[in-house]
Amino acid sequence: MKILFIGVGHMAGSLIKGITKSTSNKKYEIYINNRESTVAKAQELNVKPLVNLEDLQNEGIEVIVLGVRPAQLKEIAIVLDQFNLTNVTIVSMLSGISADKITEAFGRHPKLKIVRIMPNINADITKSVTGICANHYGEKSIDEVFDIFSNCGSVEKINEDIFSEFTISGGCTPAYILFFLKAFVDAAVKSGLEYQTALRTIIGSFEGTIANLKKSSKTPEAIIGEICVPNGVTIEGIKVFENSNLEKIVFEAFNKALKKDKEH
Ligand SMILES: NC(=O)c1ccc[n+]([C@@H]2O[C@H](COP(=O)([O-])OP(=O)(O)OC[C@H]3O[C@@H](n4cnc5c(N)ncnc54)[C@H](OP(=O)(O)O)[C@@H]3O)[C@@H](O)[C@H]2O)c1
Repeated sequence: MKILFIGVGHMAGSLIKGITKSTSNKKYEIYINNRESTVAKAQELNVKPLVNLEDLQNEGIEVIVLGVRPAQLKEIAIVLDQFNLTNVTIVSMLSGISADKITEAFGRHPKLKIVRIMPNINADITKSVTGICANHYGEKSIDEVFDIFSNCGSVEKINEDIFSEFTISGGCTPAYILFFLKAFVDAAVKSGLEYQTALRTIIGSFEGTIANLKKSSKTPEAIIGEICVPNGVTIEGIKVFENSNLEKIVFEAFNKALKKDKEH
């Protein structure tokens, strides 16, 4: 299957690395087109450059993955709309842009097959959690697109009406988790730990805790309860989180990002 990525920045680059890393990827031939440096990026990623989009028909491209930012959708759609896209599936990773809005941008293709995905930046180490949904015409393509991005981690079929909620939960949380991790590293360094020691220690604690939670049948609350013995040390920190209403702050952050996603 021939797949063309248009717009190869952080996210598309991470996905391409994930797909090409997988041993089961032999059935995919990956092409890329970027506004600049297409050939250099293709060499770096070990995929094929497609400098002129006019060549996509001759090359027999079957899947086009849009890796540009939402603001660039219109200019890309105007270019792609001149080609016959009847046998092409458009895969969009653009946050907040519905399948209907994509169809609208491609004025000449009212029956465009559209599959939306929402990956995260862990795709290159095959640890993305990727949400997927399709419009009516794209329903037959959803399984093949599911297979492509299974090479980058797990894939969840999500109804489009809650795709924004998935976007914040899966696409944005890596940044929020790292923000929280960094705050702990900074606190440890301020208290006197050397930076690399603090970083190793906090990363190790995150890794171990997640691995433990995944293999356990216990809820996060139950494990917190086991660590926070009465009159112990850990509970003192939890009290500060509770008194500062950390849960409310997280809820507000989630909803602020959600509102922005829905504004598109
Ligand atoms: N970053 C994430 O964690 C993440 C997670 C989930 C979804 N997404 C979605 O992924 C998309 C890309 O995000 P990103 O973070 O990867 O952004 P990015 O790093 O800015 O990548 C965008 C890429 O598109 C290229 N581009 C812009 N206009 C183009 C055009 N007309 N033709 C061809 N290429 C063009 C840019 O090239 P130049 O560098 O030359 O401008 C750049 O390489 C967004 O829609 C975002 O919503 C991102």
